[in-house]
Amino acid sequence: MILERKMQLNIPDLKEQAGKFQDNFLIAGFEGPNAGIMELAGLIQIYNGAMKEVSTKLEILDDEFHIRNSYNPIHHLECRIKGVRSIYEKLRKRNAQPTIESVKGNVQDIAGIRVICNFIDDIYAIEKLLLKQADVELIKRKDYIANPKESGYRSLHLVVSIPVFLSDKEEYVPVEIQMRTIAMDYWASLEHMLRYKSNSDMSGYSVKLLDCANSLAETEMVMQEIRNSVEKGGANEPAKNSGGPKI
Ligand code: GTP
Ligand code: MG
Repeated sequence: MILERKMQLNIPDLKEQAGKFQDNFLIAGFEGPNAGIMELAGLIQIYNGAMKEVSTKLEILDDEFHIRNSYNPIHHLECRIKGVRSIYEKLRKRNAQPTIESVKGNVQDIAGIRVICNFIDDIYAIEKLLLKQADVELIKRKDYIANPKESGYRSLHLVVSIPVFLSDKEEYVPVEIQMRTIAMDYWASLEHMLRYKSNSDMSGYSVKLLDCANSLAETEMVMQEIRNSVEKGGANEPAKNSGGPKI
């Protein structure tokens, strides 16, 4: 199942979004309102294409798993294109120039896909299969499952580059993929929501939130062990249709 947050890619919308910035940073940097916005729209459209390509690849892998093993390792996918405001804020944070080239060089998460898996092992199985594909190149990998963040955040982050074929050229585009289990997603979504609600001051709750992350991680390890045992046929329950990757 692909959940896509609808991207509003129309020029009046983009102009309005860009116009909201205090200093017209993007418009000025892109040399004239129309030229800049058209260029930005073209860029976002290419990233949107790359996002669709990668999410289709993931869906195909999940479908194949289902046919072979009667099991879907991917619970669901979420796709989103970064808003103009967030692109702008990231450039400003990095003191980067407001140009198309600088957007390409500085913002690797314009196209973002979140892959929610059932078990921890499913994450690494899907990662391996995706990275094996000839047109997928790994640019960056951060394993916050093996090395969780101080906050307790866990996920596997990949940035891959894939070619998008246009009418007159082919462009290599980065796509950020965040892979996590249902439990990791549950924690990250609620922690994000709470942090957003409290205007980023979560210091009073950080220990409790870390405890929650750790107990979810422990529970997940047990679930993974149960699954491994069921797959080996070592459980009391019959192993029939228990699923799991057989690759
Ligand atoms: P930025 O995207 O500029 O932050 O740099 P980065 O991609 O190198 O940073 P990082 O690897 O930390 O990944 C950032 C993304 O991971 C954020 O946009 C969130 O989606 C997610 N993330 C990282 N840390 C946390 C956290 O503590 N809590 C939650 N809820 N999400 C986090
Ligand atoms: Mg990011």
